[in-house]
Amino acid sequence: MLPNYLQKAATIVFIFQTVILLLWYLNYNATLTILMKRNISNKSGLCPLIPPDLVGPISVNINATEWMDIEKKFQKVIKGSYRPENCKARHKVAILVPYRDRDTHLRIFINHMHSFLIRQQLEYGIYIVELDKDIPFNRGFLFNVGFMEALKDNNYGCFVFHDVDLLPLNDFNLYQCPDQPKHLSVAIDKYKFKLLYATNFGGVSSMSTEQFTTINGYSNLFFGWGGEDDDFYNRMDVLNSGTKRPNQAVDGLNSLQYNLTEKVYRKMYVHITVTLNKKDAVTQLLNRLKKGKSQISESQIFETFKKILKN
Ligand code: BGC
Repeated sequence: MLPNYLQKAATIVFIFQTVILLLWYLNYNATLTILMKRNISNKSGLCPLIPPDLVGPISVNINATEWMDIEKKFQKVIKGSYRPENCKARHKVAILVPYRDRDTHLRIFINHMHSFLIRQQLEYGIYIVELDKDIPFNRGFLFNVGFMEALKDNNYGCFVFHDVDLLPLNDFNLYQCPDQPKHLSVAIDKYKFKLLYATNFGGVSSMSTEQFTTINGYSNLFFGWGGEDDDFYNRMDVLNSGTKRPNQAVDGLNSLQYNLTEKVYRKMYVHITVTLNKKDAVTQLLNRLKKGKSQISESQIFETFKKILKN
């Protein structure tokens, strides 16, 4: 048994500690609330690690809203770009979208994406990249073009490669670039929310500027539908090899050639239109065949020749 005076002292110390803890907790909570309200997480003015306005599952408006109404809705978006007003964004992200003849999809996409990206407190720009109609569509090539052109506008550290007909259904799906490239469309309603195959990297994905440069971007040689994303997936091997040099063994950013027809800064997006000289495209394909380093097969290359020459 402790003497009486020691018991009293212990009780006083206990009460004192509890009060201090309680005060500290209340003060912590109050500070946190103030910071959340101001959308500032610390003295550096950076936005919070977890954006406070995220809601989880989000609904999709599949009616194509008029451009005028979309523009009215997103007053703070200028030249396809936005940055949070009350805090400094932690991520500078360019959203690249290869595009051809899909005005309805584009309006649904733009209307959906701006509110989604604003809630994520990103500094971002949306780039719609289009190829001359007489050349077969080439998703990888358009991503490469978008990458080069977006970097002329801002020092984006992160790129999202996005199909125009895919929309995120949950805003916890963060459009950021963590340490490793990220597949953002792993569960799509059309495919019963199941990944088609383990190495699928199509639809929507993200990667840092440095990583994209290291893997030498996409191949420019996949004209028509499919294959470019599988090739892209294979290129990511180099990221784990410890080499930081751009991979020159495959075609991509290092062999990219295009003529910029137009770069228009519309209110809701930057619209890039390019042409590709057919002769250049064929020469590139021939070089690939000669070097024998292509990751696409000879039969795919001949198919591509046919497509280019037919148009
Ligand atoms: C194609 C990919 C495509 C995937 C899912 C594959 O056969 O090569 O480009 O993303 O199918 O449609």
